[in-house]
Amino acid sequence: MPSIGVFDSGVGGLTVVRALRRRLPAESFLYLGDTARLPYGTKSARTVARYTERNVSHLVDRGVKAIVVACNSASATGLAHLDSPVPVWGVIEPGARTAAERCATSVGVIATEATVRSGVYERAIMAHRPKLEVTSRACPLFVPLVEEGWEADGVAEAVARRYLTPLVRRGIDTLVLGCTHYPLLSPVLARVAGNNIQLIDSAEAIAETVAASLEELSLRAQERDGPHRLLVTDDSPRFGRLARRILGPDAELEQVDLLV
Ligand code: DGL
Repeated sequence: MPSIGVFDSGVGGLTVVRALRRRLPAESFLYLGDTARLPYGTKSARTVARYTERNVSHLVDRGVKAIVVACNSASATGLAHLDSPVPVWGVIEPGARTAAERCATSVGVIATEATVRSGVYERAIMAHRPKLEVTSRACPLFVPLVEEGWEADGVAEAVARRYLTPLVRRGIDTLVLGCTHYPLLSPVLARVAGNNIQLIDSAEAIAETVAASLEELSLRAQERDGPHRLLVTDDSPRFGRLARRILGPDAELEQVDLLV
């Protein structure tokens, strides 16, 4: 059975792969980290949509049976007009649904500039619960901090405090981690947000969605028939290390050129 393709701009999407692996242990994954073009979240919708199209067509050429867009920025801006011969799932709707189910009255969304600018989370959350208050905040420094491996550093905590304080003061009870890099900052975010705010990571929710859809489409693998594979568009030793920690030491790493 062919693999499931997953992509993000860098290491963030690996938080989604971790949840997918737990939920779907018989599947093999082909993960594409577009490290040459990272970050996506500071770029225009048009550019991110072009990268998304290119990534999807590369994964399709590699023979994947389905694709998970493990990047909120790409899910927010690149999926509306995407044409794909295989099923494609984005991360926004599962995260928004979970937030709408669990939130009491007021939800904060932290994400990249591209995702916040698109307004998709507000629309998706309010489609489920129109009366919820939704406040979004772009946190552009989080992605470079994570890519640098500084998620447990005091700098990350100071930056988190600066970004989250206005949301905490607003009285949010739920905080959506609207970028797949942010779960790697969860300990710091939880500390800064405090005990009265629950964090929502869409990884588990997207894994459930994918599992149910594969079943429905009769695309579920019975057993894993090969190693997981990793593609990067720029050589990055840290990416390889982190990815192998999540996908296993035998995951094969290959560099590809997708520049357009
Ligand atoms: N991890 C990606 C997201 O979920 C984007 C990070 C970036 O490249 O800016 O939005």
